[in-house]
Amino acid sequence: MRVLQLGVGSVGEVTARTLASEPEITKVVLADIDAQRPAAVAGKLPAGKAETLRLDVRDTPALTKALAGVDLVVNAVIPELNLGIMAACLETGTNYLDMAAAGPRDVVGTADVDEELALDADFKKKGLTALVFFGIDPGGSDVFARSLYDQFDTVETLTILDGDNSCVDGVNYAPSFSPSTMVEECLILPPYAFENGELIRRRPLSTSLEFTFPDPVGRLKVWNVDHEESQLMGRFLAGKGLKKGNFFIALDQSWVDLLLTWRKLGFDHNKEIEFAGCTFRPLDLLVSRLPKSIDLIGKMHGSVCVGALAEGTIGGKRVRRFMYQITSHDQAYEKYGVQGTGLQTGVPAACAGIMLAKGLVKEKGVLAPEQIDPQPFLDLMTTHGTPWAVTDLPPDEALPI
Ligand SMILES: NC(=O)c1ccc[n+]([C@@H]2O[C@H](COP(=O)([O-])OP(=O)(O)OC[C@H]3O[C@@H](n4cnc5c(N)ncnc54)[C@H](O)[C@@H]3O)[C@@H](O)[C@H]2O)c1
Repeated sequence: MRVLQLGVGSVGEVTARTLASEPEITKVVLADIDAQRPAAVAGKLPAGKAETLRLDVRDTPALTKALAGVDLVVNAVIPELNLGIMAACLETGTNYLDMAAAGPRDVVGTADVDEELALDADFKKKGLTALVFFGIDPGGSDVFARSLYDQFDTVETLTILDGDNSCVDGVNYAPSFSPSTMVEECLILPPYAFENGELIRRRPLSTSLEFTFPDPVGRLKVWNVDHEESQLMGRFLAGKGLKKGNFFIALDQSWVDLLLTWRKLGFDHNKEIEFAGCTFRPLDLLVSRLPKSIDLIGKMHGSVCVGALAEGTIGGKRVRRFMYQITSHDQAYEKYGVQGTGLQTGVPAACAGIMLAKGLVKEKGVLAPEQIDPQPFLDLMTTHGTPWAVTDLPPDEALPI
């Protein structure tokens, strides 16, 4: 199988290297707007498997040309470009994989989860497969939720929990992924939640709780923020009595205080503001003061845990089961030269691509992580360095949501 890797950032590098380690993947074309990244990563793939290409994905004729002879596009650029890349795949007859959605359309003007899923009939008509939202969260988290769903007789709540206990050398505020995405997710997007058969929206930074993650991560305060899983679990995993589907992520209290102050100052938007004869955009200003994820490589110490908690019953007994993956930032740096989030996201994305290459995903159309067979995906996650685990929590201590 010939793969076109679009975007060779920290996630794209891990995805490309993991894909290339499998015999079914014969070639990986490393394509990026930054000509240096493909060249820097090519030598890390097995001999003869890498090609490099400087490509701006927004240049449709160049993208279409690059798709000639490609079996699978792995999209690790920015989610705002997803629909354009999906359209090019439909045009050229190419399978597709991505790691996150953009949107929502009514708040930020870009395509959300539902617009990608709506292309299902188009991909089916062309006999193609699009694997969408396959990072760690969304992605692995949804597969964990699906696996737990299969184990339970009734499922009342599904909660994705993401906790990171890392500290960063010499930095006050350090988002572990794209600073603009992090600010947008926490401050701007009203988080979706699934409640009693409906999607509701909460005010940003209005709902938090404490959760004890497995060692070495420990107890952290987590906040409800907007994420694909709340929509996906409500859509695909509601059949056993689901009442609540939520996503929570640990945020440093000083980061939350900063964002709430920004909101109190009326800066929770990105429209131009005039000040002292100049104009500025508040979110751009805030993001400009934050380190880029690439600048944090090698400076993050600690671990990140992403998991799904199912609360329901098995055989009439109440069960609370947490299925999770923990990645150490230090080990990710030693092994791949990236921070933990790059490794933890890149490997599951590659696992979905490997399943397609091995014929373990036969379905055509647009498939969310909840829709694939979870076990081969989980086995591949372990094989490729992101092992997962399961633990049962005290049955009577339901999450206070
Ligand atoms: N689901 C998850 O768990 C999860 C977690 C982290 C990141 N992500 C997603 O993974 C993707 C990659 O994240 P990352 O941390 O590697 O980002 P990154 O910024 O490190 O890498 C993105 C790469 O894309 C390239 N790029 C940007 N615009 C381009 C264009 N127009 N044409 C060609 N190349 C372009 C950049 O030069 C860069 O090398 C993003 O879509 C992000 O939202 C998902």
